[in-house]
Amino acid sequence: MSDKLLNIFVQSHAGSWAFIVILFIVSAIFYRQKITPMILRLFYLIMVVSGVGMLIGYSFPAKYVVKGIIAIVVIGLMEMILGRMKRGQGRESSTKILFAVWAVLIITVIMMGFGIF
Ligand code: HEM
Repeated sequence: MSDKLLNIFVQSHAGSWAFIVILFIVSAIFYRQKITPMILRLFYLIMVVSGVGMLIGYSFPAKYVVKGIIAIVVIGLMEMILGRMKRGQGRESSTKILFAVWAVLIITVIMMGFGIF
C-alpha cells in the first residue's frame, strides 16, 4: 500500500474516533431525534473502512486485529443501546449493563489505538 493512502486512513481514523463517542452520547440522551444516529452511522463506516485500511497497510498485526474485533463489538453495543432507548427500555437494568460494558470496551479500544496496551 502507498504511504499516501495509508496516511489518509491514519488521519481519518485519528480525526473521527472522538465524533463516535460524542455522537453516541448525544444520540442516547436525545434518543427521540433521528439526525445524530444517522451521522453516527456514517462515522462507523469511516472508522471501519480506515481501520481495515490500516490493518492491510500494517499487514494485520495480531494486537490490532483484536482491537478491530472489539471495536466492531462496540459498534454493535451502541446500536443495541440506541434501539433499547427508542423502545423506551432505557431505564431497564439490562440497558444499564450494556452501557457499562460499552464504556469499558470503548476505553479499551481507544487505549489500544494509542498503544497504551
Ligand atoms: C468504535 C470504533 C473505533 C474507535 C473509537 C477507535 C479508536 C482508535 C484510536 C483512538 C486510535 C489511535 C489514533 C491516533 O493515533 O491518533 C486508533 C488507531 C487504530 N485503530 Fe481504531 N478505533 C475504532 C475502530 C477500529 C476498527 C474497526 C479497526 C480495524 C478493523 C481499527 C484499527 C486501528 C488501527 C490498526 C490503528 C492504528 C494504531 C497505530 O498505528 O498506532 N480501529 N483507533
